[in-house]
Amino acid sequence: MAMKNLTITSQDSGKKNYEVLFLQEFSELETALNEFTKGRKTFFITDENVSNKLLKKYNFTADLILPAGEKEKNWATVEKILDKAFELKLDRNSIFVAIGGGVIGDLVGFSASIFMRGVDVVQIPTSLLSMVDSSVGGKTGFNNKFGKNLVGSFHAPSMVLTCRACLETLPPEEITNGLAEMIKHAIITDKDHFKSLEEFSRENFSLQNIFNLLPVSVGIKAGIVAQDFKEKGERMKLNLGHTFGHAIEKLSNLKIPHGQAVAIGIIMAGEYAIKENLLSDKDFQEIKDLIIACKLSTTCDFSYEEIWQTIAFDKKKNNDEITLILPTKIGEVVLKTVKL
Ligand SMILES: NC(=O)c1ccc[n+]([C@@H]2O[C@H](COP(=O)([O-])OP(=O)(O)OC[C@H]3O[C@@H](n4cnc5c(N)ncnc54)[C@H](O)[C@@H]3O)[C@@H](O)[C@H]2O)c1
Ligand SMILES: [Zn+2]
Repeated sequence: MAMKNLTITSQDSGKKNYEVLFLQEFSELETALNEFTKGRKTFFITDENVSNKLLKKYNFTADLILPAGEKEKNWATVEKILDKAFELKLDRNSIFVAIGGGVIGDLVGFSASIFMRGVDVVQIPTSLLSMVDSSVGGKTGFNNKFGKNLVGSFHAPSMVLTCRACLETLPPEEITNGLAEMIKHAIITDKDHFKSLEEFSRENFSLQNIFNLLPVSVGIKAGIVAQDFKEKGERMKLNLGHTFGHAIEKLSNLKIPHGQAVAIGIIMAGEYAIKENLLSDKDFQEIKDLIIACKLSTTCDFSYEEIWQTIAFDKKKNNDEITLILPTKIGEVVLKTVKL
């Protein structure tokens, strides 16, 4: 099936547009990549899971294979990437290519943004989460002992190549994680997308069906980012479920995966909205039902107080205030600033 490709307007300093291509077969991905990188030096970076499970299957080799996992998202790994780039004698015209989930995408995007003051990066997202979320929007960065994503840059990709074949080697729990972000997109702006996800959850989770819904989810994210690249207002809507979610991830020592934590966070935002008379019980129940149908969690072992205390240390804390994103109905949210 031919998929709708998207052209994304980026508002970073270069104000360049970039395309997100939705491809079916790995061979199509290779063709599109070759066309884009023609005549320029490339630097392929991936992690060991993606290398062993996905790239091996297609006889594809990367120049640098990093250990997998969130704990690798640190400054030392950025240095490893930069060192390798110098060893390979890359120059200002070279292209960094990130093949992996959000961890690889964020690390490689950041490294590309500072190598020789910035070179092009192509994002090839291989997890559902990175396809619908981290590969578009241009946020890059890494973690340090003070918290997640505290160091980084805005560096939009020059091209995003999203391919169904990449999803085939992804563990099922990682599909579940990505679904949380898709549900989030639907709640923020698009009731029809919510209905499609409800249908998908009834049709035993076919990869092709979920892949067909990606352009809508990516379009929602891109549309919001285009209005507010540097997250001054509108882009904050994408944080639905994330203020509570990040606190839950932190409390669990990252044992609760991001998608699961966001799902619980969306439920908590819904409960908060009900308390404030902003959301109907019926819409809340529909949100809850979809989250459950997608095998995501709705509760965790941490108390409301524990979660709230952790939020007080959140990086988005601003003069003792925090902005919560609250659903008012399926397809609409409001920003509410709360005193801590
Ligand atoms: N930049 C942004 O705007 C943005 C947005 C959302 C999330 N993020 C970041 O993204 C990260 C989470 O992304 P993620 O969930 O993709 O994590 P991840 O990169 O750790 O990938 C999840 C797991 O799946 C494996 N994997 C990925 N693709 C695979 C494939 N095709 N086959 C087999 N295994 C595969 C990885 O090795 C890893 O073990 C976090 O660090 C988060 O901060 C960034
Ligand atoms: Zn997220």
